[in-house]
Amino acid sequence: MAPCCSLALLLLCSQALAHSKGMLYPRESASRELKELNGIWSFRADFSQQRNEGFVQQWFRQPLRQNGPVIDMPVPASFNELTQDPALRNYVGWVWYEKEVLLPRSWLLNALRTRVVLRVGSAHYYSIVWVNGVNVTEHEGGHLPFEADISKIVQASSGALCRITIALNNTLTPHTLPPGSIQFMSDSSKYPKGYFVQKTKFDFFNYAGIHRPVVLYTTPTVYIDDINVTTTLKENVGVVRYQVSVVGDINYSLLLTLREKEGDVVTTGHGPSGELKVVKPKLWWPYLMHENPGYLYYLEVKLLAEVGGEPLEDVYTLPVGIRTVYVTSSQFLINGKPFYFHGVNKHEDADIRGKGLDWPLIVKDFNLLRWLGANSFRTSHYPYAEEIMDLCDAYGIVVIDECPAVGMKYEANFGNKSLAHHLVVMEELIRRDKNRPSVVMWSVANEPASELPPAAQYFKTVITHTKAIDPTRPVTFVSNANYAKDRGAPYVDVICVNSYFSWYHDQGHLEVIQLQLKTQFEKWYDHHKKPIIQSEYGADSIPGLHYDPPLMFSEEYHTAVLKEYHSILDKKRKEYVIGELIWNFADFMTDQATTRVLGNKKGIFTRQRQPKAAAFILRDRYWKLANESSCVHSTLKYNNF
Ligand SMILES: *[C@@H]1O[C@H](CO)[C@@H](O)[C@H](O)[C@H]1NC(C)=O
Ligand SMILES: *[C@@H]1O[C@H](CO)[C@@H](O)[C@H](O)[C@H]1NC(C)=O
Ligand SMILES: *[C@@H]1O[C@H](CO)[C@@H](O)[C@H](O)[C@H]1NC(C)=O
Ligand SMILES: *[C@@H]1O[C@H](CO)[C@@H](O)[C@H](O)[C@H]1NC(C)=O
Ligand SMILES: *[C@@H]1O[C@H](CO)[C@@H](O)[C@H](O)[C@H]1NC(C)=O
Ligand SMILES: *[C@@H]1O[C@H](CO)[C@@H](O)[C@H](O)[C@H]1NC(C)=O
Repeated sequence: MAPCCSLALLLLCSQALAHSKGMLYPRESASRELKELNGIWSFRADFSQQRNEGFVQQWFRQPLRQNGPVIDMPVPASFNELTQDPALRNYVGWVWYEKEVLLPRSWLLNALRTRVVLRVGSAHYYSIVWVNGVNVTEHEGGHLPFEADISKIVQASSGALCRITIALNNTLTPHTLPPGSIQFMSDSSKYPKGYFVQKTKFDFFNYAGIHRPVVLYTTPTVYIDDINVTTTLKENVGVVRYQVSVVGDINYSLLLTLREKEGDVVTTGHGPSGELKVVKPKLWWPYLMHENPGYLYYLEVKLLAEVGGEPLEDVYTLPVGIRTVYVTSSQFLINGKPFYFHGVNKHEDADIRGKGLDWPLIVKDFNLLRWLGANSFRTSHYPYAEEIMDLCDAYGIVVIDECPAVGMKYEANFGNKSLAHHLVVMEELIRRDKNRPSVVMWSVANEPASELPPAAQYFKTVITHTKAIDPTRPVTFVSNANYAKDRGAPYVDVICVNSYFSWYHDQGHLEVIQLQLKTQFEKWYDHHKKPIIQSEYGADSIPGLHYDPPLMFSEEYHTAVLKEYHSILDKKRKEYVIGELIWNFADFMTDQATTRVLGNKKGIFTRQRQPKAAAFILRDRYWKLANESSCVHSTLKYNNF
C-alpha cells in the first residue's frame, strides 16, 4: 500500500485503495483454490515490561523460534485457557503467532494470472500481519474478517515456503469496541512496581487470540471483488437485484445464473448490475414458520476477461434467499407475515476453547436451538463467525446482527474517536453480512449509557450511517436505560429492552415481576410507538441446585422468573411486543466477581450444553408460540433431534 502514495501516483493510488472493497467469504470454485492454515501455530506472549520487545527486536524478521522460546498454539482458539500459566490467562498486551506454510507451485508461477490472498476470519483485538517479514496489513477490531493481497511477496520469493507472522494486541481503550481501560496501580504498599489491570464494563471474559479460520486463497488477477444482492417481492414475482464489482480490468463481461438447490437453472442475467425475476419463488422462511425453512437459491457469477491475450475466467457462487422485511409501529413482517422472535442470546464461548471457532460446538448449538424451537438469536455482543451465519441462512434461524459496541458506560466512549471507529465497524459488518437472508436487523450497540447527553448525536450518526449503507434493513440498539431518558431510542426502528426484575433489584421478590414488566412495556410503547422486543431477561441458576419455595440461584427460581415474564409477554405480544430473547442460551465465562460463580450462570443450558430445568419450560413455550404463528401448525410436532 505504502509506496504508491506520492503525488504523481495519486490516481493510481486511489484505484489501488478501491481494491479492498469486498470481503466475500472465501469459497472454492473452478477458478479459486483455498488452503486452510488452521492447526498448530508457534506462539509467544511478550512479557517485557513495555510489551514491546517483539517490535524492538523485530521478531517478524526471522522464524519466531530463532529469537526466543515458542509454545504450540492452536488456531482457531483463544490463547487464555490452554496452558497452566495464570499469567497467560490474564495476559494483556502483544502476543505473536507464526505459521510456516508451503504453497503450491501453481500459485507462484503465473503472477500475471494468479492472485494470492491471506484472510483472517477474526483476531481479537488489534492485528499486524507480516508475510516473509514484510508488513502486509493491520486491522482494528476483534470480530470481523480482514485480508491482504500477498501475491507480490510470495511470487517474488525464491522458495515456496511462506512465513506468516501475526502480532495481536488484546488491550482495550476507551475508544475501542468494546471499550476498556488500563488501570495502573501506583500504591506501592499494595501492588508491585508497574502493576496494571485491564478494566471493562461488559459481562464476559475478554478472550483473545486468532478466533476464526485463517486461509490462503487464490483468485485470477481480474476478479469478482464484491456482490451485493437485495430481494423484493411483487405479487407472485421475486426480484433479485444485484451489483457485482470487478477489480483488475475494465474490459470484461459478467454472466449470472440463478439456480435451484439441485442445480436447475431458474433465470440468467448479465452485466455488473440488474434484476433477476423469479416467478412463484420459493421464499426464504424462518424456521418453524414454513415446512421448508431457509430455502436458498444459488447465484453463480461468471466473469470473463482477457489477460496477456489469453482468456481468463472467475467464478463465485453466492447463496441467495428471497425474502422481505418490513417494520410497522407494532409488527415485524417477514414476507408480509407477522414474525414473533422466540429465541435466544448467545455468546461464542465454550470451556478451554474460549471463543475459538469449533465445528462440533456449532453443530451441537444449532441442534439445541432447533430442539428448543428457537427461531432467532441476537449475536450478543459482537458479530459471530461466518460459518455460524451460513447455518442461520440454511436453517432459517433469524438473526439480529449486533456489532461489538458493549460496555459503553462513560462519556469518553461517546467521543469522535469512538464514533469514527464505530462507523467503520458498521461498514465492515454490513460489507460481510449484507447478502444474508437470515440477517433481518442490525443492532449498533448493547446497553450503552444512552441517557448521557452525547449519546443523542452519537446514535443518530451511527444509525443514519448504517441506514445509508443498507436501506433494506431496520436498525436497533439494545437499551437498559429509562424509557424517557434514552437519547438513542428516537432513531431506532424497533425498541429492544433488557430487564432483570427480581434479579439485579428486588432480589428474591418474584411477586413484583408482572407489574414491573407491564409498566416497562406500556411506558416504552406510549413514549415511542414502536414495536418492542424483550431482548434480555433471565436469572442465574446453578445446575442441580434445588429449593422450594424458590430461592435465588436454584433451578426453581430460574424457572419461576421465566414464567412470571411469560405471563405478561403473552398479553403484550397480542399488541406490540414482537419478540423475546432469553439471556442466555448457555452459561459463559466472565471476569471474576462476587456475583459470578465461574462465570455467568444465566444459561438455560450449562457451558457443557446440558439442559437446566429452564430449558424445558422454554421448549414447551417456543413450540407453542410457533404453533400459533406458523403457516404449518397442523403438522408442527416436536422434531427429533
Ligand atoms: C505497516 O504498514 C502500514 C502501511 O504501510 C504502516 O502504516 C504501519 O506503520 C506498518 N506497521 C508496522 C508495525 O510496521
Ligand atoms: C498494545 O498493547 C500495549 C501494551 O499493553 C498498549 O500500551 C498499546 O496501546 C496497545 N496498542 C494497540 C495499537 O492496541
Ligand atoms: C475488450 O474485449 C473484447 C473481447 O475480448 C475485445 O474484442 C476488445 O478489443 C477489448 N477492448 C479493449 C479496449 O481492450
Ligand atoms: C466532534 O466532531 C464534531 C463534528 O466534526 C465537532 O463539531 C465536535 O466539536 C467534535 N467533538 C469533540 C469532542 O471533539
Ligand atoms: C446494495 O444495493 C442496494 C440497491 O440495490 C443499495 O441500496 C445498497 O446500499 C447496497 N448495499 C451495499 C452495502 O453496498
Ligand atoms: C401444534 O398443534 C397441533 C394441532 O393443534 C398439535 O397436534 C401439535 O401437537 C402441536 N404441537 C406442539 C409442539 O404443541
